Amino acid sequence: MSRIVYRNVSDLKGFSLKNCPSMPDPTRVLMCPPDHYDVLDVKNPFMAGHVGSVNKGLARKQWDDLKAAFESAGKPVTHIDPVPGLEDMVFCANQTFVGVDPKMEKICLLGQMRHSSRRREVPAFEAWFKSQGYRIVKLKDSAVLFEGAGDAIWHPGKRLIWGGHGFRSQPEVYEEVARAFDSPVVLLKLVNERFYHLDTCFCPLTPEAVLIYPSAFDAESLELILKIFPIVLTAGEGEAVRSMACNAAVVDGKTAILQKGAASVSRHMAVMGLKVIEVDTSEYIKSGGSVYCMKMFCY
Ligand code: ARG
Repeated sequence: MSRIVYRNVSDLKGFSLKNCPSMPDPTRVLMCPPDHYDVLDVKNPFMAGHVGSVNKGLARKQWDDLKAAFESAGKPVTHIDPVPGLEDMVFCANQTFVGVDPKMEKICLLGQMRHSSRRREVPAFEAWFKSQGYRIVKLKDSAVLFEGAGDAIWHPGKRLIWGGHGFRSQPEVYEEVARAFDSPVVLLKLVNERFYHLDTCFCPLTPEAVLIYPSAFDAESLELILKIFPIVLTAGEGEAVRSMACNAAVVDGKTAILQKGAASVSRHMAVMGLKVIEVDTSEYIKSGGSVYCMKMFCY
């Protein structure tokens, strides 16, 4: 029952969010210092026109400010050592997907990334999570693609996983994700290549509320979101693209850390009772990433 993959609303017969067992909140945040961060090629539409254009000094300041924002939201931040030559390693949400299983064992499922340059990041994260007492799980099918917490997102406080696919991760992987965490997965299909990871267009705020960019999804996926979340807020195209507003990170259902310049999303979050901390991640948006994917929530 708990290992089900839900693909459309008719699969949801008998499903109720209330009946999903609870999941503990993450206790800390992992970040990777931007020592080797750069834009060297074009892996997503955000990167076009930005090869070689990163302002390294500004990128360091923005990273330091983001770290301070997580700390002020009450989460200690730990580091993984940056590896020379791995310019995207700063986006440390993509190499693995982590959580606790129903017996409270910490699990780290290793990703299998689409681009060969990023595949080389995974071993560093495997070693780090192993050193922190996580049980490492490898996908059985070494050919299937999976980009970790870029596409797999825990429902706040619940043993339920939202699984994006379409551009980076492949849908077949989610049977194994469900098995690894003994938790059901709701599949969401991404159809707009600018929103290539689920975390670019889907941001759970509380157990009841989510922020989305609707046209990133196909119709069946939108129906699933509307069926499960009682409150669905939407971001407009300008804020979703220019400010990557759906790539915000919400800490403990209380504080939202958001790229500056997304005035409507910021207002909606405040009306939901969230404290909003605005940061500037402009140097990272050049690579297609912002707040959510520059950190990994850990246990
Ligand atoms: N340049 C990176 C890539 O294309 C950015 C990843 C950002 N991560 C995210 N989850 N949005 O892979």
